[in-house]
Amino acid sequence: MSFDTEAVHAAREDLTALGVHVPPIDLSTTYPVGEVDSGGASYENLATGGTPSAGDSLVYQRLWNPTVARLEEALARLEGTEQAVAFGSGMAALSAILLATVSAGKPHVVAVRPLYGGSDHVLATGLLGTRVTWADPDGIAAALEPDTGLVVVETPANPTLDLLDLAAVSRQAGSIPVVVDNTFATPVLQRPVEHGATIVLHSATKFLGGHGDVMAGLVATDARWAARIRGVRALTGGLLHPMAAYQVHRGLQTLPTRVRAQQDNAQVVAHWLARQDGVVRVFHPSIQGCDPKGLVGRQMSGCGAVLAFEVASFDVAATVAQSCRLITHAVSLGGVDSLIQHPASLTHRPVTPEARPAASVLRLSVGLEDPGDIVADLRRALDLASERHSGRPVPVVRDCEREPVHQR
Ligand SMILES: Cc1ncc(COP(=O)(O)O)c(C=O)c1O
Repeated sequence: MSFDTEAVHAAREDLTALGVHVPPIDLSTTYPVGEVDSGGASYENLATGGTPSAGDSLVYQRLWNPTVARLEEALARLEGTEQAVAFGSGMAALSAILLATVSAGKPHVVAVRPLYGGSDHVLATGLLGTRVTWADPDGIAAALEPDTGLVVVETPANPTLDLLDLAAVSRQAGSIPVVVDNTFATPVLQRPVEHGATIVLHSATKFLGGHGDVMAGLVATDARWAARIRGVRALTGGLLHPMAAYQVHRGLQTLPTRVRAQQDNAQVVAHWLARQDGVVRVFHPSIQGCDPKGLVGRQMSGCGAVLAFEVASFDVAATVAQSCRLITHAVSLGGVDSLIQHPASLTHRPVTPEARPAASVLRLSVGLEDPGDIVADLRRALDLASERHSGRPVPVVRDCEREPVHQR
Protein backbone atom coordinates (compact mmCIF):
# COMPACT_ATOMS: atom_id res chain seq x y z
CA MET A 1 0.00 0.00 0.00
CA SER A 2 1.14 3.53 -0.66
CA PHE A 3 2.51 5.74 2.10
CA ASP A 4 -0.58 7.97 2.08
CA THR A 5 -2.90 4.97 2.47
CA GLU A 6 -0.75 3.63 5.32
CA ALA A 7 -0.93 7.02 7.04
CA VAL A 8 -4.74 6.84 7.04
CA HIS A 9 -5.13 3.15 7.91
CA ALA A 10 -2.02 1.90 9.77
CA ALA A 11 -2.84 0.15 13.06
CA ARG A 12 -6.58 0.56 12.45
CA GLU A 13 -7.19 -2.65 10.49
CA ASP A 14 -9.00 -4.39 13.36
CA LEU A 15 -11.52 -1.60 13.98
CA THR A 16 -14.29 -2.94 11.76
CA ALA A 17 -14.07 -6.36 13.45
CA LEU A 18 -14.30 -4.56 16.78
CA GLY A 19 -17.48 -2.83 15.54
CA VAL A 20 -16.03 0.69 15.88
CA HIS A 21 -14.76 3.32 13.45
CA VAL A 22 -12.04 5.05 15.49
CA PRO A 23 -9.58 3.45 17.93
CA PRO A 24 -10.92 2.86 21.45
CA ILE A 25 -8.99 4.71 24.14
CA ASP A 26 -7.92 2.43 26.99
CA LEU A 27 -7.37 4.53 30.11
CA SER A 28 -6.69 1.65 32.52
CA THR A 29 -3.72 2.30 34.77
CA THR A 30 -3.79 -1.30 35.98
CA TYR A 31 -4.95 -4.60 34.47
CA PRO A 32 -6.27 -7.76 36.15
CA VAL A 33 -3.40 -10.23 36.42
CA GLY A 34 -5.31 -13.52 36.83
CA GLU A 35 -3.01 -16.11 38.35
CA VAL A 36 -0.08 -14.91 40.44
CA ASP A 37 2.48 -16.97 38.49
CA SER A 38 1.40 -15.92 35.00
CA GLY A 39 0.91 -12.31 36.22
CA GLY A 40 4.48 -12.34 37.55
CA ALA A 41 5.77 -13.68 34.25
CA SER A 42 3.91 -10.92 32.36
CA TYR A 43 5.38 -8.30 34.68
CA GLU A 44 8.89 -9.67 34.18
CA ASN A 45 8.49 -9.67 30.39
CA LEU A 46 7.05 -6.15 30.09
CA ALA A 47 9.28 -4.50 32.69
CA THR A 48 12.34 -5.66 30.76
CA GLY A 49 11.09 -4.26 27.46
CA GLY A 50 9.27 -7.30 26.06
CA THR A 51 5.97 -7.19 24.16
CA PRO A 52 2.85 -9.01 25.40
CA SER A 53 1.54 -12.23 23.80
CA ALA A 54 -2.21 -12.76 23.25
CA GLY A 55 -3.91 -13.44 26.57
CA ASP A 56 -1.10 -11.97 28.73
CA SER A 57 -2.05 -9.45 31.38
CA LEU A 58 -0.78 -5.96 30.50
CA VAL A 59 -0.15 -5.51 34.25
CA TYR A 60 0.28 -1.70 34.48
CA GLN A 61 0.02 1.30 32.13
CA ARG A 62 3.68 2.29 32.65
CA LEU A 63 4.65 -1.08 31.12
CA TRP A 64 2.17 -1.29 28.22
CA ASN A 65 -0.95 0.38 26.89
CA PRO A 66 -2.94 -0.75 23.82
CA THR A 67 -3.80 2.78 22.64
CA VAL A 68 -0.14 3.80 22.82
CA ALA A 69 0.86 0.53 21.11
CA ARG A 70 -1.43 1.36 18.17
CA LEU A 71 0.34 4.67 17.61
CA GLU A 72 3.73 2.94 17.91
CA GLU A 73 2.77 0.38 15.27
CA ALA A 74 1.49 3.11 12.93
CA LEU A 75 4.67 5.20 13.18
CA ALA A 76 6.92 2.14 12.76
CA ARG A 77 5.11 1.37 9.50
CA LEU A 78 5.51 4.93 8.23
CA GLU A 79 9.22 5.03 9.14
CA GLY A 80 9.82 1.49 7.82
CA THR A 81 11.18 0.18 11.14
CA GLU A 82 10.35 -2.99 13.06
CA GLN A 83 8.95 -1.17 16.08
CA ALA A 84 8.47 2.22 17.73
CA VAL A 85 8.30 3.40 21.34
CA ALA A 86 6.28 6.43 22.48
CA PHE A 87 7.11 8.95 25.21
CA GLY A 88 5.57 11.98 26.90
CA SER A 89 7.81 14.37 24.90
CA GLY A 90 10.65 14.40 22.38
CA MET A 91 13.11 15.11 25.20
CA ALA A 92 11.86 12.09 27.17
CA ALA A 93 12.42 10.00 24.03
CA LEU A 94 15.98 11.30 23.56
CA SER A 95 16.68 10.79 27.27
CA ALA A 96 15.61 7.14 27.04
CA ILE A 97 17.95 6.59 24.05
CA LEU A 98 20.85 8.15 25.97
CA LEU A 99 20.12 6.16 29.14
CA ALA A 100 19.99 2.97 27.08
CA THR A 101 23.52 3.54 25.77
CA VAL A 102 24.85 4.55 29.20
CA SER A 103 23.39 1.41 30.77
CA ALA A 104 25.01 -0.69 28.02
CA GLY A 105 28.42 0.67 29.13
CA LYS A 106 28.85 2.91 26.04
CA PRO A 107 28.45 6.46 27.38
CA HIS A 108 30.38 8.30 24.64
CA VAL A 109 28.27 10.08 22.03
CA VAL A 110 29.48 11.73 18.83
CA ALA A 111 27.11 14.50 17.79
CA VAL A 112 26.96 16.97 14.91
CA ARG A 113 25.72 20.52 15.52
CA PRO A 114 23.31 22.16 15.05
CA LEU A 115 20.78 20.21 17.08
CA TYR A 116 17.61 21.41 18.78
CA GLY A 117 18.74 23.50 21.80
CA GLY A 118 17.35 21.02 24.36
CA SER A 119 19.15 18.09 22.71
CA ASP A 120 22.37 20.13 22.59
CA HIS A 121 21.91 21.06 26.26
CA VAL A 122 21.31 17.52 27.53
CA LEU A 123 24.42 16.32 25.67
CA ALA A 124 26.62 19.33 26.60
CA THR A 125 25.82 19.02 30.31
CA GLY A 126 26.28 15.23 30.42
CA LEU A 127 23.26 15.23 32.73
CA LEU A 128 22.37 11.62 31.91
CA GLY A 129 25.90 10.23 32.18
CA THR A 130 26.91 10.61 28.52
CA ARG A 131 30.14 12.27 27.31
CA VAL A 132 29.90 14.16 24.03
CA THR A 133 32.37 14.91 21.24
CA TRP A 134 31.04 17.52 18.81
CA ALA A 135 32.16 16.59 15.31
CA ASP A 136 32.02 18.14 11.86
CA PRO A 137 30.00 16.07 9.39
CA ASP A 138 33.25 14.79 7.84
CA GLY A 139 34.94 14.22 11.22
CA ILE A 140 32.58 11.59 12.65
CA ALA A 141 34.84 8.59 12.02
CA ALA A 142 37.81 10.38 13.64
CA ALA A 143 35.74 11.22 16.73
CA LEU A 144 34.72 7.61 17.49
CA GLU A 145 36.19 6.08 20.67
CA PRO A 146 36.12 2.52 22.02
CA ASP A 147 33.14 3.34 24.26
CA THR A 148 31.15 5.30 21.65
CA GLY A 149 27.55 4.11 21.80
CA LEU A 150 25.76 6.50 19.45
CA VAL A 151 26.18 9.05 16.68
CA VAL A 152 23.48 11.72 17.01
CA VAL A 153 22.46 13.99 14.12
CA GLU A 154 19.52 16.10 13.02
CA THR A 155 18.63 16.78 9.37
CA PRO A 156 17.20 19.21 8.43
CA ALA A 157 18.64 20.73 11.59
CA ASN A 158 16.93 23.12 13.95
CA PRO A 159 17.03 26.09 13.38
CA THR A 160 19.12 26.75 10.25
CA LEU A 161 17.95 23.78 8.14
CA ASP A 162 21.49 22.44 7.62
CA LEU A 163 21.26 19.15 5.71
CA LEU A 164 23.40 16.07 6.38
CA ASP A 165 24.09 13.22 4.00
CA LEU A 166 22.84 10.29 6.09
CA ALA A 167 24.50 7.62 3.96
CA ALA A 168 27.86 9.37 4.48
CA VAL A 169 27.19 9.70 8.24
CA SER A 170 26.29 5.99 8.46
CA ARG A 171 29.40 4.96 6.51
CA GLN A 172 31.59 6.87 8.96
CA ALA A 173 29.74 5.50 11.99
CA GLY A 174 30.35 1.91 10.83
CA SER A 175 28.81 -0.42 13.42
CA ILE A 176 27.86 2.41 15.82
CA PRO A 177 24.10 3.12 15.69
CA VAL A 178 23.17 6.45 14.12
CA VAL A 179 20.30 8.38 15.74
CA VAL A 180 18.53 10.80 13.37
CA ASP A 181 16.15 13.43 14.67
CA ASN A 182 13.56 13.39 11.86
CA THR A 183 11.21 15.95 13.44
CA PHE A 184 11.57 18.54 10.64
CA ALA A 185 11.30 16.15 7.68
CA THR A 186 8.82 13.58 9.05
CA PRO A 187 8.63 10.19 7.26
CA VAL A 188 6.65 11.95 4.52
CA LEU A 189 9.86 13.54 3.23
CA GLN A 190 12.65 11.36 4.63
CA ARG A 191 12.98 7.83 6.05
CA PRO A 192 16.40 7.73 7.77
CA VAL A 193 16.62 3.92 8.11
CA GLU A 194 16.68 3.71 4.29
CA HIS A 195 19.98 5.63 4.48
CA GLY A 196 21.64 3.52 7.17
CA ALA A 197 20.29 5.00 10.43
CA THR A 198 19.30 2.66 13.27
CA ILE A 199 17.22 4.96 15.45
CA VAL A 200 14.76 7.67 14.32
CA LEU A 201 13.71 10.29 16.86
CA HIS A 202 10.64 12.53 16.71
CA SER A 203 9.29 15.36 18.72
CA ALA A 204 5.74 14.28 17.85
CA THR A 205 4.63 17.56 19.44
CA LYS A 206 5.43 19.08 16.03
CA PHE A 207 4.26 17.78 12.62
CA LEU A 208 3.04 14.35 13.76
CA GLY A 209 0.50 15.83 16.17
CA GLY A 210 0.19 18.79 13.84
CA HIS A 211 -2.22 21.04 15.73
CA GLY A 212 -0.21 22.40 18.67
CA ASP A 213 -2.38 20.57 21.20
CA VAL A 214 -0.44 17.45 22.12
CA MET A 215 3.05 16.83 23.54
CA ALA A 216 4.71 13.54 22.58
CA GLY A 217 7.95 11.86 21.54
CA LEU A 218 8.55 8.78 19.41
CA VAL A 219 11.51 6.52 18.69
CA ALA A 220 11.31 4.24 15.63
CA THR A 221 13.94 1.50 15.48
CA ASP A 222 14.70 -2.23 15.28
CA ALA A 223 13.22 -4.74 17.74
CA ARG A 224 16.43 -5.02 19.81
CA TRP A 225 16.81 -1.27 20.41
CA ALA A 226 13.05 -0.88 20.92
CA ALA A 227 13.17 -3.48 23.74
CA ARG A 228 16.06 -1.66 25.44
CA ILE A 229 14.30 1.69 25.13
CA ARG A 230 10.98 0.26 26.39
CA GLY A 231 12.90 -1.17 29.35
CA VAL A 232 14.19 2.34 30.15
CA ARG A 233 10.66 3.75 29.75
CA ALA A 234 9.24 1.14 32.13
CA LEU A 235 11.81 2.09 34.77
CA THR A 236 11.94 5.84 34.36
CA GLY A 237 8.26 6.43 33.52
CA GLY A 238 8.47 8.86 30.58
CA LEU A 239 5.42 7.23 29.01
CA LEU A 240 2.82 8.81 26.74
CA HIS A 241 -0.74 9.23 28.00
CA PRO A 242 -3.28 7.20 25.96
CA MET A 243 -5.33 10.33 25.14
CA ALA A 244 -2.21 11.94 23.70
CA ALA A 245 -1.41 8.72 21.79
CA TYR A 246 -4.92 8.84 20.28
CA GLN A 247 -4.39 12.45 19.18
CA VAL A 248 -0.99 11.77 17.57
CA HIS A 249 -2.37 8.66 15.84
CA ARG A 250 -5.18 10.81 14.43
CA GLY A 251 -2.59 13.40 13.39
CA LEU A 252 -0.78 10.76 11.30
CA GLN A 253 -3.85 10.41 9.07
CA THR A 254 -3.46 13.92 7.67
CA LEU A 255 0.34 14.11 7.99
CA PRO A 256 1.20 13.66 4.27
CA THR A 257 -1.41 16.20 3.17
CA ARG A 258 -0.42 18.76 5.80
CA VAL A 259 3.33 18.42 5.25
CA ARG A 260 3.05 18.78 1.46
CA ALA A 261 0.68 21.75 1.63
CA GLN A 262 2.75 23.49 4.31
CA GLN A 263 5.97 22.95 2.39
CA ASP A 264 4.41 24.46 -0.74
CA ASN A 265 3.55 27.54 1.33
CA ALA A 266 7.04 27.58 2.88
CA GLN A 267 8.60 27.60 -0.57
CA VAL A 268 6.52 30.63 -1.58
CA VAL A 269 7.40 32.45 1.65
CA ALA A 270 11.13 31.52 1.45
CA HIS A 271 11.44 32.84 -2.10
CA TRP A 272 9.52 35.99 -1.26
CA LEU A 273 11.78 36.62 1.76
CA ALA A 274 14.87 36.09 -0.40
CA ARG A 275 13.75 39.05 -2.58
CA GLN A 276 13.30 41.51 0.30
CA ASP A 277 15.90 44.23 0.90
CA GLY A 278 15.72 43.89 4.67
CA VAL A 279 16.48 40.14 4.55
CA VAL A 280 20.17 39.24 4.54
CA ARG A 281 19.81 35.50 3.99
CA VAL A 282 17.15 32.78 3.85
CA PHE A 283 17.73 29.22 5.10
CA HIS A 284 15.51 26.68 3.33
CA PRO A 285 16.58 23.74 1.16
CA SER A 286 14.70 25.29 -1.79
CA ILE A 287 16.98 28.35 -1.73
CA GLN A 288 20.11 28.28 -3.86
CA GLY A 289 23.15 27.26 -1.82
CA CYS A 290 21.17 25.61 1.02
CA ASP A 291 21.45 22.06 -0.37
CA PRO A 292 25.07 21.89 -1.57
CA LYS A 293 25.11 18.06 -1.66
CA GLY A 294 21.91 17.76 -3.67
CA LEU A 295 20.07 15.80 -0.95
CA VAL A 296 16.59 16.96 -1.95
CA GLY A 297 15.38 14.36 -4.42
CA ARG A 298 17.98 11.81 -3.24
CA GLN A 299 17.52 11.64 0.54
CA MET A 300 14.52 13.93 1.03
CA SER A 301 11.53 14.08 -1.27
CA GLY A 302 10.85 17.75 -0.46
CA CYS A 303 12.17 20.82 1.33
CA GLY A 304 9.89 20.90 4.36
CA ALA A 305 7.80 23.62 5.95
CA VAL A 306 10.28 25.24 8.34
CA LEU A 307 12.64 28.01 7.27
CA ALA A 308 14.91 30.55 8.92
CA PHE A 309 15.98 34.00 7.79
CA GLU A 310 18.56 36.51 8.82
CA VAL A 311 17.91 40.24 9.13
CA ALA A 312 20.29 43.14 9.85
CA SER A 313 20.52 42.86 13.62
CA PHE A 314 19.05 41.53 16.85
CA ASP A 315 16.86 44.64 17.14
CA VAL A 316 15.35 44.13 13.71
CA ALA A 317 14.78 40.41 14.43
CA ALA A 318 13.11 41.19 17.76
CA THR A 319 10.83 43.81 16.21
CA VAL A 320 9.83 41.50 13.35
CA ALA A 321 8.98 38.62 15.72
CA GLN A 322 7.03 40.85 18.10
CA SER A 323 5.16 42.67 15.33
CA CYS A 324 3.67 39.71 13.48
CA ARG A 325 -0.09 39.48 13.96
CA LEU A 326 -1.28 36.52 11.91
CA ILE A 327 1.90 34.55 12.64
CA THR A 328 2.13 33.81 16.35
CA HIS A 329 5.35 34.75 18.15
CA ALA A 330 5.93 31.42 19.93
CA VAL A 331 8.31 28.45 20.09
CA SER A 332 7.40 25.05 18.59
CA LEU A 333 6.69 24.28 14.95
CA GLY A 334 4.94 21.93 12.58
CA GLY A 335 1.36 22.89 13.40
CA VAL A 336 -1.30 24.05 10.95
CA ASP A 337 -0.72 27.69 11.96
CA SER A 338 2.47 29.67 11.35
CA LEU A 339 4.83 30.36 14.25
CA ILE A 340 7.88 32.64 14.42
CA GLN A 341 10.56 32.70 17.11
CA HIS A 342 14.08 33.97 17.89
CA PRO A 343 16.25 30.85 18.41
CA ALA A 344 19.20 32.61 20.13
CA SER A 345 16.85 33.91 22.87
CA LEU A 346 14.52 30.91 23.15
CA THR A 347 14.94 27.39 21.71
CA HIS A 348 18.74 27.62 21.40
CA ARG A 349 19.40 29.79 24.43
CA PRO A 350 21.15 26.94 26.35
CA VAL A 351 23.65 26.39 23.49
CA THR A 352 27.20 27.62 24.02
CA PRO A 353 27.68 31.04 22.30
CA GLU A 354 30.14 29.73 19.66
CA ALA A 355 27.55 27.23 18.41
CA ARG A 356 24.42 29.31 19.00
CA PRO A 357 22.51 30.68 16.00
CA ALA A 358 23.24 34.33 15.26
CA ALA A 359 21.17 36.92 17.15
CA SER A 360 19.93 38.24 13.80
CA VAL A 361 18.25 34.93 12.79
CA LEU A 362 14.54 34.11 13.08
CA ARG A 363 12.90 30.71 12.59
CA LEU A 364 9.53 30.47 10.87
CA SER A 365 7.30 27.40 10.80
CA VAL A 366 4.93 27.88 7.89
CA GLY A 367 1.35 26.72 8.35
CA LEU A 368 -1.68 26.16 6.17
CA GLU A 369 -2.79 29.79 5.91
CA ASP A 370 -2.92 31.39 2.46
CA PRO A 371 0.75 32.22 1.72
CA GLY A 372 -0.35 35.68 0.54
CA ASP A 373 -1.58 36.44 4.06
CA ILE A 374 1.64 35.11 5.63
CA VAL A 375 3.72 37.28 3.31
CA ALA A 376 1.54 40.34 4.04
CA ASP A 377 2.09 39.85 7.77
CA LEU A 378 5.86 39.58 7.27
CA ARG A 379 5.86 42.60 4.94
CA ARG A 380 4.22 44.74 7.62
CA ALA A 381 6.57 43.47 10.35
CA LEU A 382 9.69 44.02 8.19
CA ASP A 383 8.53 47.55 7.24
CA LEU A 384 7.93 48.41 10.88
CA ALA A 385 11.35 47.08 11.86
CA SER A 386 13.10 49.00 9.09
CA GLU A 387 11.32 52.24 10.10
CA ARG A 388 12.26 51.72 13.73
CA HIS A 389 15.89 50.62 13.20
CA SER A 390 16.99 52.46 10.08
CA GLY A 391 20.20 53.71 11.80
CA ARG A 392 23.32 51.59 12.37
CA PRO A 393 22.84 48.66 14.78
CA VAL A 394 24.02 49.48 18.31
CA PRO A 395 26.91 47.11 19.27
CA VAL A 396 25.80 45.83 22.67
CA VAL A 397 26.06 42.29 24.07
CA ARG A 398 22.53 40.95 24.27
CA ASP A 399 21.31 38.54 26.86
CA CYS A 400 21.06 35.84 24.17
CA GLU A 401 24.77 36.27 23.37
CA ARG A 402 26.00 35.51 26.90
CA GLU A 403 27.20 32.13 28.28
CA PRO A 404 24.25 29.83 29.09
CA VAL A 405 23.60 28.67 32.62
CA HIS A 406 24.22 24.93 32.43
CA GLN A 407 22.32 22.88 34.95
CA ARG A 408 23.68 19.58 36.04
C1 LIG B 1 14.13 18.92 16.31
C2 LIG B 1 13.59 18.75 17.71
N1 LIG B 1 13.90 17.65 18.40
C3 LIG B 1 13.45 17.46 19.66
C4 LIG B 1 12.68 18.40 20.30
C5 LIG B 1 12.20 18.17 21.70
O1 LIG B 1 10.87 17.75 21.66
P1 LIG B 1 9.78 18.06 22.80
O2 LIG B 1 9.65 19.54 22.88
O3 LIG B 1 8.57 17.34 22.31
O4 LIG B 1 10.32 17.48 24.07
C6 LIG B 1 12.33 19.56 19.60
C7 LIG B 1 11.50 20.60 20.26
O5 LIG B 1 11.38 21.71 19.77
C8 LIG B 1 12.80 19.76 18.28
O6 LIG B 1 12.51 20.86 17.57
